[in-house]
Order: sequence, then structure tokens, then C-alpha cells
Amino acid sequence: MKPLLQVSNLNAWYGESHVLHGVDMTVGEGETITILGRNGVGKTTTLRTIMGIIRERKGEIRFDGKDMLSVPLHRTAHVGLGFVPEERGIFSTLTVEENLMLPPVVADGGMSIREIYDLFPNLEERRSSPGTKLSGGEQQMLAIARILRTGVRLLVLDEPTEGLAPVIVQRIGEVLKKLKERGMTVLLVEQNFRFASRIADRFYLMDHGRMVADFPVAELPARMDKLHKVLGV
Ligand SMILES: Nc1ncnc2c1ncn2[C@@H]1O[C@H](COP(=O)(O)OP(=O)(O)OP(=O)(O)O)[C@@H](O)[C@H]1O
Ligand SMILES: [Mg+2]
Repeated sequence: MKPLLQVSNLNAWYGESHVLHGVDMTVGEGETITILGRNGVGKTTTLRTIMGIIRERKGEIRFDGKDMLSVPLHRTAHVGLGFVPEERGIFSTLTVEENLMLPPVVADGGMSIREIYDLFPNLEERRSSPGTKLSGGEQQMLAIARILRTGVRLLVLDEPTEGLAPVIVQRIGEVLKKLKERGMTVLLVEQNFRFASRIADRFYLMDHGRMVADFPVAELPARMDKLHKVLGV
């Protein structure tokens, strides 16, 4: 499989605090990859460093061969990376449709509003509702939907199912499967094993600021006991 994202020996800092200690990770074109790990091991920091939000970094990040360390933050989407942060970032004073239209289209191949509403019928029903009136699940769907319009090739999600009801988690899983069928590459952090095992092709296990294991979804059942111990879940 052709690698789309290649991360090698990535280090990152918050001021004096050295948080990533040599992250190595490869995401193939069309793959769905899930990062697992205990609280505070550096999962969010890994995503934020790849996205260029954290600039105190060393090592290598290549996207489709391009050196991302030289790309300014405001160009990250143009290169093809879209990020849905844990806090989702929906503008509460804007309607669903205004939120949807906000990020600029950066490349061909993004979804039309029609395709997005077909994928998320509840967003169409609520197209004129303000962001404040949305449930957590609707906000998460809107945060994902908004990025699909832009034409990015890698969707990066930080704990998309956190705090959501099981029925909504299932809906988000179905959406991610459909995106996979369309060829989208997805990198996500996720604590919900059941959800992750339904959508991921491969897992990385993170500890103390680096990746300590990497295995395909087929090996998940055999590793479950050990993972429960490592993750404390
Ligand atoms: N803005 C910040 N400034 C300083 N230190 C930070 C900052 N954000 C996170 N950290 C620290 O960096 C380490 C990694 O945090 P990070 O948020 O990446 O962990 P995580 O694996 O995403 O955890 P969680 O499962 O709780 O989301 C932690 O020790 C955390 O306290
Ligand atoms: Mg986190």
C-alpha cells in the first residue's frame, strides 16, 4: 500500500516539557488507523503536531512525500490534511449550514452539500438551527461533515465518539465506513474498542510519547487481555 502519511522520529515540546519522544507511524492511502493509549501518553499531541498546530517539533512528517515541517499552519488543509479536534469547534452563533460552508474548499474531490446531507440526513433537517441547539452527536457529525466538503485526503479525528450515546457512535461508525469506501484515509484516536474494531484496519499503541506496538485489526482479539491491562480499561 502506498504510504500517504509517514512520521519518523517525531519529537514535540510544550515549552520545556518534552512530550513526544520519537513517534514512528505510517498511514497508507485508504487506510483507517486508530491510535490507542492511556491518558496523557501523547495521542492528542501526536495529532496536533502532525497538523502543525504544535510547532516546537523535530523529526520527519511527510504527506504524500511532501515535507510538512516546512508547511505553515494555514496551508495544512491545502496540502490535504483535515482535523476534527476533541472540542469539535462548532461556531455556536452560526447555523448548521453556515458552519458547513465555513472552511474553504482546498482541492477537487470534496463532497457537495447534497452528498453531505445524504450522508448526514439529520444535519439537513437541522440546517437552519444554530450551533448552540445541536446535541453532542450532531456537533460531531457537523465537525466531520464540514471537513468533507474541503477536499482533504486525510481525515484526522481526536476521540470522535467521546461522550456520545451508543446509537450515535454507531452512526458515526457507518459514516466512517462509507468514507473508507470512497477512498478516504482516516487517522483517529479512540478509546472505544468496539467502535474502533469495527472501523480500523490497523492500530498503533502509544506509551510515554512513542508508538510501542503496531498490529492489524485481525490481531485485536488475541491482544485484548494485554491491551486491557496496558490501557487500564
Ligand atoms: N498545552 C499543554 N501544555 C503543557 N503540557 C501539555 C499541554 N497539553 C498536554 N500536555 C501534556 O502533554 C502530555 C500528553 O498530553 P496529550 O493531551 O497529548 O495526551 P493524550 O494521550 O491525548 O491524553 P488523553 O487520553 O487524556 O486525551 C500530558 O502529560 C499532558 O499533561
Ligand atoms: Mg487526548
